[in-house]
Amino acid sequence: MIILGIESSCDETSVAVLKDDIILANLISSQDFHINFGGVVPELSSRAHIQIITSLVKEALAKADCTLDDIDAIGATAGPGLIGALLVGYTFARGLAFAKKKKFVPVNHIEGHIFSGFLMEEKPQFPLLVLAVSGGHTLLLLAKSFTEIIKLGSTIDDAAGEAFDKVAKMIGLGYPGGPKIQLAAEKGDKQKIPFPIADLKDKYNFSFSGLKTSVLRYVQSTFGGPKDTPIPENHLNDIAASFQYAVVRALLIKCEFALKEYNISSMSLVGGVAANKELRNAFLQLGEKYKKKVVIPELEYCGDNAAMIAFRAQSLLNAGETFPLETDAFPNFSSKYFINPPLADSL
Ligand SMILES: Nc1ncnc2c1ncn2[C@@H]1O[C@H](COP(=O)(O)OP(=O)(O)OP(=O)(O)O)[C@@H](O)[C@H]1O
Ligand SMILES: [Mg+2]
Repeated sequence: MIILGIESSCDETSVAVLKDDIILANLISSQDFHINFGGVVPELSSRAHIQIITSLVKEALAKADCTLDDIDAIGATAGPGLIGALLVGYTFARGLAFAKKKKFVPVNHIEGHIFSGFLMEEKPQFPLLVLAVSGGHTLLLLAKSFTEIIKLGSTIDDAAGEAFDKVAKMIGLGYPGGPKIQLAAEKGDKQKIPFPIADLKDKYNFSFSGLKTSVLRYVQSTFGGPKDTPIPENHLNDIAASFQYAVVRALLIKCEFALKEYNISSMSLVGGVAANKELRNAFLQLGEKYKKKVVIPELEYCGDNAAMIAFRAQSLLNAGETFPLETDAFPNFSSKYFINPPLADSL
């Protein structure tokens, strides 16, 4: 089966061609101009998707050495995401499917991230513990199959990636925050400032707003506020390293709870924040400690990409799912494959 995948939920336009499990093409066009605005401007994002989508589809097909006639199905991100941005890729894909009489698969962007480990040569195995950390989501999941995803926990406020972006802005590192904090952290002392980890009633949930406020208070009390004086570089590096360390610890504590409580075969770390070196290393070490197979996608497949959308479309078609062409795009999270956690001993 050959699948054309299209992703346009935020600031990346991406088109991929997937043949069975082999990625024939995965082109990603990132809208770097948002850097000038300190964050993604939705209207500009939609316009940029429109400008590039047709040529990117042609380029991806050429790279895969395919024509539209060779394609069996088209999968496109239906949500969650910025509605204007989503509509560009989604309506383009749906129109193409209608015109060329192809199967059409609306794909949940987060489900794309969740199964992105399957794009790697070494595949994860079910039951699979997934830590999905991106710009908009922080989820701890137990996937029993491609169509049964148990949500163990999620963030009750900011997503991990959002915390990276907000703290980077706060300490003057700018946008995009994740990679900039990682770079500064490499030169800093992660033990220097004991930033707190939220202790929540629900043991699998996450919270990053207290940590963010704690960084703000530290900056205010030590340097008189983020805007008044630029923070000296050595202090900046220590703040970045200590903040990053707190995020990694907060994420891994919950993974360890799940490893102790549930029957798990393998572990996967996915989403944009999975690009973080410190988090990747810590996740690998946790897998070693519990003797679990760990699959973390290569960097190209951590951030938004269409290969994961094509793979998710393929896994749903293989599971016998069918989708009416009339399905609309949805800006908010919605998935019928997510189920609430049953009692641990029934798993
Ligand atoms: N090296 C890194 N360290 C930490 N965070 C990172 C790193 N690289 C990217 N990120 C973060 O990843 C996030 C982007 O990930 P992604 O593109 O998956 O999110 P999104 O698509 O905007 O949100 P969602 O997938 O939840 O809809 C940003 O918040 C960015 O700061
Ligand atoms: Mg994403």
